Amino acid sequence: MTVPTIALNDDTAIPQLGFGVFKVPPAETATTVATALEVGYRHIDTAQMYANEAGVGDAIAASGLARDDVYVTTKLNNGFHLPAEAKASLSRSLELLRLDVVDLFLIHWPLPTRYDGDFVQTWQALIELREAGLTRSIGVSNFQPAHLDRIIAETGVVPAVNQVEVHPFFDNTAVREADARHGVATEAWAPIGQGKVLDEPTIGAVAAELGRTPSQVTLRWHVQRGDIVFPKSMHAARMAENFAIFDFTLSDEQMARISGLDEGEAGRLGPNPDAFDYVPD
Ligand SMILES: NC(=O)c1ccc[n+]([C@@H]2O[C@H](COP(=O)([O-])OP(=O)(O)OC[C@H]3O[C@@H](n4cnc5c(N)ncnc54)[C@H](OP(=O)(O)O)[C@@H]3O)[C@@H](O)[C@H]2O)c1
Repeated sequence: MTVPTIALNDDTAIPQLGFGVFKVPPAETATTVATALEVGYRHIDTAQMYANEAGVGDAIAASGLARDDVYVTTKLNNGFHLPAEAKASLSRSLELLRLDVVDLFLIHWPLPTRYDGDFVQTWQALIELREAGLTRSIGVSNFQPAHLDRIIAETGVVPAVNQVEVHPFFDNTAVREADARHGVATEAWAPIGQGKVLDEPTIGAVAAELGRTPSQVTLRWHVQRGDIVFPKSMHAARMAENFAIFDFTLSDEQMARISGLDEGEAGRLGPNPDAFDYVPD
C-alpha cells in the first residue's frame, strides 16, 4: 500500500496517513510504534504533552529505517510558550526522540488567555528553530482563523499545517476554510472521533456498500477531502485496517452523506481552543 504525500507550502512533503500516539502509555509506546512501523506507517504524530517521545525514538532507532523514511511530528507543551523555553523544549524532545531534527514542530494550543495572549512570540521562536535547523517544518495546532490571521500578519510566515479536530460529527468548516485560504494544510485530529463515529448508521451503511469497515470509510472520507490523518490504535489488526484505505473510493454521493453528519459546534469532542487554558503546574 503506497501512502500519498501532501505537498506543504515550504517545499516539503508529508505522508497523508500517519500514526498518532495520544494516550499510548509511555511504557507501551516503543512496542506500539514498532508494530505501526511493521504495518507500514512512516509518519508518527507525538507531542511533549503525551510524555511518550522516548518510546517513539526507541522504536524508530530499533526499526533500522533510514531517518528520511520516517516523518516525525512533535508539539510544544503548553507550559513552554515563552521563546527561551520553547527552544529548550525542542532540544529535549530531540534527545528523547534520538533525532537531530524533527520533520514538523507545532504549537500544540494557542492559549489565547495565557501569556498575555501573545502566541506570536511563540510562533517567532518556532521560526527561529526552523532557521536553526532543528525542525524541517513548523506549524500550529488548534489555531482558530483569527489566531492564524494574526501570526501570519505579524510575522509574514505561514504555518505549514494546522492540526485541528475534524471528523464527521465536527467538520470544523471555518478553520478548514481559513487553512485553505492561507495555503495551510489541515491535519485532522481524532479522525474517527476517538471511536465515536464508528457506530453511526450512515457510516455503517456506506461501509456495507463498499465492503469496508466504518473506520476505513471515515478515514477515506478525510483523505478524499485532502486532509492529513493519523489514527491511533493499540491493536495491530486495527492499525492494519486503518492503513488499508488507498485501494477504494467513496463516490461523491457517499462523501456527501458522511459530510451531512456534521453537527457543528455540538459535535466537538475536545476543548474549544478560544477558551482552553490548561498549563501544567
Ligand atoms: N493536536 C491536538 O490537540 C490533538 C488532540 C487529540 C489527538 N491528536 C492527535 O491525533 C491522533 C488521533 O486522534 P485520537 O487518538 O484522539 O483519536 P482517533 O484516532 O480518532 O481514535 C482513537 C480511538 O479509536 C479506537 N480505534 C482506532 N482504530 C479503530 C478501528 N479500526 N476500529 C475500532 N476502533 C478503533 C482506538 O482504540 P484502540 O487504541 O483500543 O484500538 C482509540 O480509542 C492522536 O493520537 C494524536 O496524535 C492531536
